[in-house]
Amino acid sequence: MAVKRIVLFGAPGAGKGTQAQWLCDALDLAHLSTGDMLRAAVAQATPVGLKAKSYMEGGKLVPDDVVVGVVVEAIAKAVKEMPNGYALDGFPRTLPQAEALREMLAQRNENINLVILINTADEVVLERLTQRRSCSDPKCGAVYNLKSKPPKKEGVCDVCGKAVIQRNDDKPETIRVRQQQYRRDTQPLVAYYKQAGVLVDLPGGGSIYEVAGRILEAVSKMRH
Ligand code: AP5
Repeated sequence: MAVKRIVLFGAPGAGKGTQAQWLCDALDLAHLSTGDMLRAAVAQATPVGLKAKSYMEGGKLVPDDVVVGVVVEAIAKAVKEMPNGYALDGFPRTLPQAEALREMLAQRNENINLVILINTADEVVLERLTQRRSCSDPKCGAVYNLKSKPPKKEGVCDVCGKAVIQRNDDKPETIRVRQQQYRRDTQPLVAYYKQAGVLVDLPGGGSIYEVAGRILEAVSKMRH
């Protein structure tokens, strides 16, 4: 199998994490979620976590230099441990991040071979985020939805048995800030990756399985 370097892209709540998890399990790829990495760093109060905490709680983007440092490390580890490649979930989110990623990969004669835009209507995204619940243990990170994917036992994680909670940044006022940040800083990357010829724009509506089917089809057609 050719090495896959994929970006899952979309608004907060579009379904990036859900689809990345599934795709990485199916294709044996490393799942590199900057949200998960930063939440773990905050929980452990590492230097990165201390820098990121207040931005995340307010729904704001963490500064580029902090996030790029985290991703450089994660990609270096993934390249050693996961020969099939990786899927980035939640990165890049700004033009400087996209440029840093391009430069980092160019040093190895590599590039991103597919960017999947999970294009989900605003009202659907809002509904998904308000119904989302997450495992309280950042090392587990399992994601649920009270409507579409409830835990088997109410309030308890199916995977690790810890409590299932609502993420702090899934409160309505913080969701609004995250959506504004997406429109202002992240959406311009759609044109950036379209121009690079690697963007696939897929509808994010329908069930988790329907979206997964569209993604798998796009991955099977990707150029290497
Ligand atoms: P992050 O955790 O990446 O948050 P996000 O981008 O806002 O994405 P979400 O995790 O909210 O949504 P998702 O698209 O993964 O949707 P999910 O699959 O969970 O980042 C959090 C914070 O970290 C940021 O605000 C920022 O502060 C910081 N950060 C992270 N990366 C950064 C970066 N690169 N630069 C700067 N700062 C950064 O699905 C949502 C819900 O819908 C779930 O309940 C799920 O079960 C359900 N669902 C999914 N698909 C479907 C479907 N098809 N049908 C029905 N339900 C569905």
